[in-house]
Amino acid sequence: MIRIDPRVAAALRRRAERGRPVCAYVYDLTVLRDQVRRLREALPSWCEVYYAIKANADPAVVRAVAPLVDGFEVASLGELRQVREATGGLGAPPRAVFSGPGKTDADIEGALRSGIELLNVEGTTELHRVQWIAERLGVRVPVALRVNPGHRVLSGSHLMGGTPSQFGIEEAQLPGAVASVGTLPALDLRGLHFHAASNNLHADAHARYVEWCLRVIAEVEAEHGVRLPILDVGGGLGVDYRRGPGFDLRDFGRRLGELPPPNGRRVVLEPGRYLAAGCGYYAAEVLDLKRNHGQYFAVVRGGIHHFRLPSTPHAGEHGHPFAVVPVEAWDYPFPRPQVEGAPVTVAGELCTPRDVLARDTWVDRLRGGDIVVFPLAGAYGWEISHHDFLAHPHPDRIVLDD
Ligand SMILES: Cc1ncc(COP(=O)(O)O)c(C=O)c1O
Repeated sequence: MIRIDPRVAAALRRRAERGRPVCAYVYDLTVLRDQVRRLREALPSWCEVYYAIKANADPAVVRAVAPLVDGFEVASLGELRQVREATGGLGAPPRAVFSGPGKTDADIEGALRSGIELLNVEGTTELHRVQWIAERLGVRVPVALRVNPGHRVLSGSHLMGGTPSQFGIEEAQLPGAVASVGTLPALDLRGLHFHAASNNLHADAHARYVEWCLRVIAEVEAEHGVRLPILDVGGGLGVDYRRGPGFDLRDFGRRLGELPPPNGRRVVLEPGRYLAAGCGYYAAEVLDLKRNHGQYFAVVRGGIHHFRLPSTPHAGEHGHPFAVVPVEAWDYPFPRPQVEGAPVTVAGELCTPRDVLARDTWVDRLRGGDIVVFPLAGAYGWEISHHDFLAHPHPDRIVLDD
């Protein structure tokens, strides 16, 4: 069994006193800020950090991160709006790079009108679409070409590049794309964008990947006689949900520090998971505990419609780890169900056998009315879930900030 921060347990017990059953996301902004600072301190000064808001767009999270990062990575007009709304009143709007496949005319026009810093373009048709819209608006657009590497440059739980995918321009087609930009006068080619994998746990491989990206951009410059001042290497720094040694940040920083400084080039990292995962917890109260076909099941007020992460390939076969916050009050006239010293599968309230948050996980004791708490839920937790399937109430949101 794992332990969680006593402040989080206390906040959940307080919530239980105010109303049951408990179902909540808890975001700890101190943990979040510390993690952003840790990353920044480990990286050489020539690295910039943009937060990929898709990992967690909660306004409190975005506001807490804003003063500590160089900008944001957004992949839709909705995300751009979320950044602007959450940071309104904090000074000048933060810098934003706009990425993502399948940009519509409206996305591109909206992004250009909102003064984004850089548009990461995913394909040749999109280049022409941006030219067509920019010409109509009478603006010049700073663009970067997203490259899908010709070989496997990174591993991770989600591969986007170095493999056939909908992302980016295949490396072999890059010379043609660079030449195309030269014929599109409204486009100002500023750099290259790479985001090859998400959730890579190997710091040495990530450093080698950044080194490779630096080499590619220098080669493109030399071959085409262009100056590309921005290298955006994407996100992808991993989180070990099984509580193993995880991504070795110091090693990553040290290896990057050994590379020659990139000669005035801006090198942008746009992590999401690595910054936000640790600050979040998903908590759900046990409504029922039963034995079915020889196995124990705990059914909670909540499930994968709030917290879909456990059903993604991120944490190995047993899924996401959890802790139990015991709640002593049991105000019912009927017996309290209980399991002691046994593996339990934690399932949600949806009418599908896929609504499983953790499978066959050992508990010392679990009772109806206790709260199961999933740590490392701050990235791709609420954001990737299908909230309204079965129309259950959404979870509460508890923000700790001290
Ligand atoms: C273009 C882009 N940048 C950054 C990220 C953030 O990735 P991660 O959360 O793995 O750091 C993503 C995630 O999908 C992405 O698509």
